[in-house]
Amino acid sequence: MKENLSLLSPLDFIPADIHCAADYESLAARFIPAPGLEYIAGGSGQDKTLAANRRAFDQWFICPRLLPDLGDAHTRLGLLGREFAHPIFLAPVAYQKLAHPAGEIETARAASVMQSCMILSTLASQSLEEIAAIGTEEKWFQLYFQPNIEATLDLIRRAEAANYRALVVTLDATIRTPSLGALRSQFQMPADCVAVNLQDYEINSPRVLAAGESRIFKGIMQDAPTWADLQWLINQTHLPVIVKGVLHPDDALRIKKLGAAAVVVSNHGGRSFDGAMASLNCLAAIRAILGDEYPVLFDGGIRSGLDIFKAIALGADAVLIGRLQVYALSVAGALGVAHMLKLLREELELCMAQAGCANLQAIRNCRVEKVSI
Ligand SMILES: Cc1cc2nc3c(=O)[nH]c(=O)nc-3n(C[C@H](O)[C@H](O)[C@H](O)COP(=O)(O)O)c2cc1C
Repeated sequence: MKENLSLLSPLDFIPADIHCAADYESLAARFIPAPGLEYIAGGSGQDKTLAANRRAFDQWFICPRLLPDLGDAHTRLGLLGREFAHPIFLAPVAYQKLAHPAGEIETARAASVMQSCMILSTLASQSLEEIAAIGTEEKWFQLYFQPNIEATLDLIRRAEAANYRALVVTLDATIRTPSLGALRSQFQMPADCVAVNLQDYEINSPRVLAAGESRIFKGIMQDAPTWADLQWLINQTHLPVIVKGVLHPDDALRIKKLGAAAVVVSNHGGRSFDGAMASLNCLAAIRAILGDEYPVLFDGGIRSGLDIFKAIALGADAVLIGRLQVYALSVAGALGVAHMLKLLREELELCMAQAGCANLQAIRNCRVEKVSI
């Protein structure tokens, strides 16, 4: 309670003590009430995968090149038939009103100004139509399969009608290890922070289990999406379907063969299966099996431009920023998110200059080494 009394409202300026993108993480505690921060910052279970995501980055080092010619260097990339100014996108993050009273509206403004692609969560606290109307930059819609197929189909049609350019279907969160941190801090979603895009859909009543039946297998998993559902989704829409939450190369290959447009190598920022591998450690094998041309995105643990450089070196075309986005949002709204993106891009460019990489392809060819620490 004492903690909450000292909380600040989002500022309309950048605090002088932000020197790098990661500084937003340390500052967020002054802007987000403690249980909410626990929900955002925490992982699932005992945070083993959350910690592994960060540790994985620290194991990689880069071999720099001397006297590079960087006069025409740039961070542009072509992806799904579009040109992007840089590879730093905003991951789907639910319930952003937890971090700022205007939530996703501020994030969308920042994405537009900074030429970043925003991926709006199914569980956004602002409507998908309202967010689509902000700015001109490309936006994608993140889809969770709903227990009721009519609701899933309606979300797809609404995203198409609102001009989202791709559907990012998240498949790694059907069943999650509960977050012990959020449980212990007795976190409850505030009444004004709801998944407004789902409000009009009917909720199926919970399955009644017979005595001795598994709550997991006969309960929660009965509504889980299947490979057939993924194929159904790809057939339902003219939009490219991107599958988020891929860690195993065989799954990645199967997804490519089904006709998905891209994969996101991700473990949900350590928020789903506590015990899953660090997403960075899954990247190279997935790139190898999918080939050089197939679009591979990545997230999990990125806190700096150096991390982005390493993810690209290990096979990512572009990266998604999760928690840093919400932290920056809590500190200074759209201005904070825009500033965080600017810092990340400059940090990436700094690494490119030091490593002698004139473009993202050169990063992919850069020599990196894994050491045990
Ligand atoms: C508070 C919070 C809410 C999230 N909500 C969603 C969501 O609605 N859909 C989704 O696919 N991923 C969601 N994620 C996962 C992110 O998209 C992303 O995979 C993860 O945050 C990346 O790790 P990072 O936070 O270390 O950057 C959420 C993450 C956080 C921290």
